[in-house]
Amino acid sequence: MRNKLIIGNWKMHGSVVENAALIEQLIQGVPSLDANTEIGVCPCAIHIPQISELLAGHDRIDIGAQNVNEHTSGAFTGEISAAMLREFPVKYVLLGHSERRTLFGETDEMIAAKFVAVANEQMTPVLCIGESLQQREQNKTESVLLSQLESVLKVTGKESFSKAVIAYEPIWAIGTGKTATPEQAQAVHQVLRHWLATHLGEVSQRMQILYGGSVKPDNAKTLFSQNDIDGGLIGGASLNAEAFLGICEAAQ
Ligand code: 13P
Repeated sequence: MRNKLIIGNWKMHGSVVENAALIEQLIQGVPSLDANTEIGVCPCAIHIPQISELLAGHDRIDIGAQNVNEHTSGAFTGEISAAMLREFPVKYVLLGHSERRTLFGETDEMIAAKFVAVANEQMTPVLCIGESLQQREQNKTESVLLSQLESVLKVTGKESFSKAVIAYEPIWAIGTGKTATPEQAQAVHQVLRHWLATHLGEVSQRMQILYGGSVKPDNAKTLFSQNDIDGGLIGGASLNAEAFLGICEAAQ
């Protein structure tokens, strides 16, 4: 049995005041949730110290980062290394989010290098993959996703790869209000699980594969009840405590 995992990706939202209110509401709501539901929040990097302090002593909510630089240190103005994240209680690092791929030109090679940097610091990579609407319409969904996975696996090797979380986020469903139907999402997750089983063996049964893209409290339950959907990566709805907790509840 895999635990369900719900991660909130706050993207470039939040402020010191807003974060304090949101975290307080989450801390109050989380004890009523099943202990097997794992929960994480990914604030902006500048807010990680604040969230670390707010969550000190509250082990039900883990912290994630939204990005990392692949180098260990050096002349990379504006960047943050994995070791810097590791100075705080950061458990997860999102990698390869479609916004990073499309808006900031991240390539599969960069994402693979970031994966290695994160794994070297004993944090958990959350490897995001997804197809565009055009790719889906051209029946390229499977080949796009598997090539995104392959390009990372060939660099990281099996052992490191098997410790990652995979997040399937169809680009056409992100922030659009359009969700993949539970059947569409399950069909893709099943392909991903099969690929993981072929390349990694038995451990694939323990790996968490999250779905992301317009997940809301009212569609979460049917998505999360699919065999190969182990939780969600939540954008917009993670900024509202009631909605995020509703989604966590749907995972039970
Ligand atoms: P939305 O939930 O706002 O569609 O965003 C999904 C996402 O990109 C999470 O990483």
